[in-house]
Amino acid sequence: MPIADRHPAVETTARTSVASPMPDNSTANFVLAMSAVATGVTVVATDGPGGRAAQTVSAMCSVSADPALVLVCLHGRSPVNDAISENGVFCVNVLATQHDHVADTFAGRPWPGKQRWDFTCGHWTVAESGSPRVHDAIASFDCTVHDVIEAGTHRVYIGRVAAVEAHPGEPLMYASHTYSKPAAFEPSTFPDYPDAHPAPRTRSTK
Ligand SMILES: Cc1cc2nc3c(=O)[nH]c(=O)nc-3n(C[C@H](O)[C@H](O)[C@H](O)COP(=O)(O)O)c2cc1C
Repeated sequence: MPIADRHPAVETTARTSVASPMPDNSTANFVLAMSAVATGVTVVATDGPGGRAAQTVSAMCSVSADPALVLVCLHGRSPVNDAISENGVFCVNVLATQHDHVADTFAGRPWPGKQRWDFTCGHWTVAESGSPRVHDAIASFDCTVHDVIEAGTHRVYIGRVAAVEAHPGEPLMYASHTYSKPAAFEPSTFPDYPDAHPAPRTRSTK
């Protein structure tokens, strides 16, 4: 479904963009469109000589399996940048649905009784690198800094994964400023093609 069908505000700005390839409101339009993109939610945490710090980050993905590399994007203004630069390590904690309060706290909007970036929110242990690890995170990727790329307002950190830990749980998801969880659904059916069905979904190691 085109985004304009879901969000009337985008329809207006999208029409504007036809008339002008670089409309004044292009940043707002970009941010609005990106808010519809569903992601998982992580907390990127570091500790060491540069201090302990963590931040909620949805911009995280796998880069390579061998060597194991992940990337995360942090706003250049985040104090976590200085800490990671000095510590040279960080742990990417993939949150589950019970960690909604952790996600909010490390996004600077704590629940009553907690401070911003309050490590008493959630149950933390220490990963091999010394970085803070959420003990029941669905997955934790303990990393050393492999590369840093300045890109626009953000810094892209590529982490070399030194250790992985995984626990069962329901992934915390984020889209349209709302937390949710994945829900499986029946595959599409097509009356004119009754034999149409998805190919078996097997796990790839590539
Ligand atoms: C679900 C969620 C995902 C976020 N993802 C990112 C991200 O990928 N990168 C980033 O720099 N900030 C991200 N943020 C925002 C930062 O966590 C937040 O701006 C930061 O902690 C500083 O807070 P402040 O702007 O109130 O000072 C995200 C926030 C939330 C709630």
